[in-house]
Amino acid sequence: SIKIAIVGAGSGYMPGVIRGLLHRAADLAGAELAFHDVHREHLALMARLATAMFAARGADFTVTSHTELKPALDGASYVFTTFRPGGMAARHLDESIPLKYGVVGQETAGPGGFLMACRSVPVLLRIAELADPDAWIVNYTNPTNIVTDAVLRYRPGTRIIGLCDQHVGDTEMWAELLGLPAARLEADWIGLNHATWAERVRLHGEPLDLPALLADLEIPGGGATPWRDPSRMAELARALGLLPNSYAKYYFFHDEVVRELRAKGTTRAQDISAMLPGYYASLAAEAAKPDPDPSRERGGGEHGEFAVDVICALHRDEDRRMIVNIRNDGAISSLDDDAVVEVPARIGRKGPLRSAMGPLPLPVRGLTQAIWTYERLAADAAATGDRRTALQALMAHPFVRDKHTAERILHEGLAAHRDHLPQF
Ligand code: G6P
Repeated sequence: SIKIAIVGAGSGYMPGVIRGLLHRAADLAGAELAFHDVHREHLALMARLATAMFAARGADFTVTSHTELKPALDGASYVFTTFRPGGMAARHLDESIPLKYGVVGQETAGPGGFLMACRSVPVLLRIAELADPDAWIVNYTNPTNIVTDAVLRYRPGTRIIGLCDQHVGDTEMWAELLGLPAARLEADWIGLNHATWAERVRLHGEPLDLPALLADLEIPGGGATPWRDPSRMAELARALGLLPNSYAKYYFFHDEVVRELRAKGTTRAQDISAMLPGYYASLAAEAAKPDPDPSRERGGGEHGEFAVDVICALHRDEDRRMIVNIRNDGAISSLDDDAVVEVPARIGRKGPLRSAMGPLPLPVRGLTQAIWTYERLAADAAATGDRRTALQALMAHPFVRDKHTAERILHEGLAAHRDHLPQF
């Protein structure tokens, strides 16, 4: 039987992960699930909820709880990481400090994500050091691409796959915009995490004529959520001649978004923090029921399903096509071999098998290469704590570039987060 460690198991996303585990209970039967979190109450709550849900559905899992990393990781074949160092309070700083200087903070793709990388990378490096040498780290901790790059280069030999389920919801959004059945639509999303692009799309496995589809695409009004903005995405698709990832909005509508965020007045972190106490309270009430079924999940189902499916694909040698963040090694010809890219790969016991996807589309090639340059510098800065590299990273970032702005964000950001930045 196997052991799966889940680091960050007190996360609000856990009900979705538990549901994902339930769906694959037969494939993972007998597994020990070692829950780890530094937040004791949330950890205890999720362990209670999971145990009750597994018992009610007859799933053969054993849940153990840990606040120390070592016992959680010992003997684990899979280490699923899904934590945010500093929690929502830190995210609020990530989102609000850059905005003061006219830059979208953005907790993953923006300079806010840079600050988050500086907190996440040291913890992931420690996990890579403590985990069994053969363990697979299946990482959701953001920014997933920068974290993955840092682990691959600063703990060579570690087996790590960076995950993001953004493409699942994005593909659904495009299916709706293009009037196609989502379940049968497959897109070749390639690029970098939160900077992927699709020129090749298939329906029932048959290639579609994307230029023709985009020529007929109408730009819908409104409908934006915190994750998706169909109107702006349709505008971009028509201009660029490809399907962009939802995060493209921050690159191509940057100044408009700054104005919107300022007018809104609260950060996403503040909005989430306001709902979290009620959410955890409702989960606690649910966990006490004989057959708990938490319906209000913090992140939606695809997050948990996707991570569990990746673990199953590795464990059961499924050779399944999944979009993941891995070393490039020729998958995208416009990026270095040692870049960490997001590409479709076939996942089996030996890990991900990439295939050659060709170059990046010309209209976004330079932008993607610039983002990659920033990410590489960010991974180095986060791993080493070198301030000059950190400044270079922010000066390379397409939202920032301006030297004095980069200095202000860096100075204020590193000071605000100093408790989580042992390397600086
Ligand atoms: C999407 C992104 C994730 C990100 C999340 C934030 O799912 O792909 O990388 O962490 O949104 O969602 P939230 O509800 O926390 O704003």
